[in-house]
Amino acid sequence: MSSLEVEIERILPGGYGLAHAAGYTVFVPLAAPGDRLRVGVERQQGNILFASIEEILVASPDRIEPPCPYFGRCGGCDFQQLTYEKQLAAKAEIIRDCLHRIARLQDIPEIVVTPSPRDWRYRLRATWQIDQEQQRIGYYERGSRRVCDVADCAVLLPELQQTLERVRATEWQEFPPGLQHLEVVAAENGVSLSPPFAEFDTAELQLQLAGESYSYNAASFFQINPALLPPLLEFALSDATGETAVDLYCGVGLFTLPLSRRFKQVVGVESNPVAAQFARRNLARARLENARVVNSGVAEWIGAKPLRSDFVLLDPPRAGAESVVIKGIVDSRAARVSYVSCDPATLARDLKKLIAGGYAIESLAAYDLFPQTHHVETVVRLHLS
Ligand SMILES: C[S@@+](CC[C@H](N)C(=O)[O-])C[C@H]1O[C@@H](n2cnc3c(N)ncnc32)[C@H](O)[C@@H]1O
Repeated sequence: MSSLEVEIERILPGGYGLAHAAGYTVFVPLAAPGDRLRVGVERQQGNILFASIEEILVASPDRIEPPCPYFGRCGGCDFQQLTYEKQLAAKAEIIRDCLHRIARLQDIPEIVVTPSPRDWRYRLRATWQIDQEQQRIGYYERGSRRVCDVADCAVLLPELQQTLERVRATEWQEFPPGLQHLEVVAAENGVSLSPPFAEFDTAELQLQLAGESYSYNAASFFQINPALLPPLLEFALSDATGETAVDLYCGVGLFTLPLSRRFKQVVGVESNPVAAQFARRNLARARLENARVVNSGVAEWIGAKPLRSDFVLLDPPRAGAESVVIKGIVDSRAARVSYVSCDPATLARDLKKLIAGGYAIESLAAYDLFPQTHHVETVVRLHLS
């Protein structure tokens, strides 16, 4: 069975199109709901077939011509075949699917994904892969560690696109031997690269956002799409106020600064020493002396001493929070929790444990920080029930 005809029913977490054929469940990337496709089976895992599109027999009305010449080869943007409205609808469906199937929630409220003001040229941050032997700079190809050579990336902010062009124009002998990845980030006052080389340095940048000023560089984390951060911050923090708050996985302090204006005592916890240092600097420049930043893994920090806090904000990486972190939050009996997540599947896994530990979902909002990809940012506010 190498070729099959399928009809795509909907988009699943991970961005796959779902179909059923010949008694199998079929996962097809780069598909649109309603597409009739001939697909080639690439691998089988039990009753699931992973397949790729060989021919579009009848195109879905939601399908558009992907504008990027690297679409399909580059592993980056896997939603370009969908209209922007359909991308947003698919992301709402992905969140709903995870909450239902993984968190086992019954009454899921309507999920609205706030669109990005720009659906192209929005990315403030990127990781560029380097293959010095093949002289390629770009992103990994789909499902592989081969570098797709990209001259123009249509989701990068114009200043990052110009930097990509300057990096690509640099003589290969100027690249540090063995360099495989470059981190790059932009702000109002320039572009920062890590590691520094040739004319590029890991400059400290500054961005004004929702009344705060944040410094960071390419060796620390900053969110990809700043245009949606003000409403996201507003929703995540809402009317939270009180004695104590913690900001777990705090980065350079995106939430720590506004939390410090609302709570008497705040602790931020961050494992990356560069980001933790920026968080301290950002607090000091804002003269917020009621917050401290601990440079530690969150699991280690929570494991060392029981958590005591009125409000917990957590914004872990894609893998979600470690079990010991969720247990620490549950044991703390914090009155309110805001969970900011870039992966609906690990979010749902952790929500299930928080709900079993006595928390109830108060409200949920989603933000399209990552147009043209299946990724989505979700914020869930919980309270002790
Ligand atoms: C999704 S980012 C969120 C950062 C920040 N809240 C923001 O919105 O800008 C996750 C952050 O967690 C940090 N991190 C990753 N694993 C960690 C861990 N085990 N303990 C503490 N921080 C961690 C990363 O360095 C990164 O800064």
